Amino acid sequence: MNDIVFKEFNKQMNRETESAFIYLALSTHFQFFNLKGISKFFEKRYKEELEHMFKFQQFLLSNNHHPIISEIPKPIAQISDALFAFDLGLAHEKKITKHIHDLVDLIRKEDCKVAEPFLSNFVAEQIQEESMFAHIRDVIETQLGLDNIYLLDKELRDKYEIECCT
Ligand SMILES: [Fe+2]
Ligand SMILES: [Fe+2]
Repeated sequence: MNDIVFKEFNKQMNRETESAFIYLALSTHFQFFNLKGISKFFEKRYKEELEHMFKFQQFLLSNNHHPIISEIPKPIAQISDALFAFDLGLAHEKKITKHIHDLVDLIRKEDCKVAEPFLSNFVAEQIQEESMFAHIRDVIETQLGLDNIYLLDKELRDKYEIECCT
């Protein structure tokens, strides 16, 4: 892995932490409003994003590069409702997908074969994440409406087998 590729991978590692913090903020918000299913859903996303960050960190270390942890942008503080939150997640994941695809272009251009299998997992992961957010935001918009948000809360608890909520 050359320095050009390293620099861009390092940026993506920090973006994964940024993703994690966005979901941590959302999780915290919904817990405050006692929507524990939605809160746990975002807590799971938070933990997954941290796992992604560690994957990038370990990949860089195993390729003999020194990852640099950077300052993370502050997550949005004004969260109006659940539709807003899931739209935010979807828009963010689309942004991340674009970054991952740009990384794929870069490693091809730089002929960095070691990074190909690593990145292909993230390409697949992004398809899943986008479709998950798109599905939930569509359920809110077309089936539930914000008045029935407790149904979504319950559905997320059941669907994602969240056992915390009593
Ligand atoms: Fe991620
Ligand atoms: Fe993600």
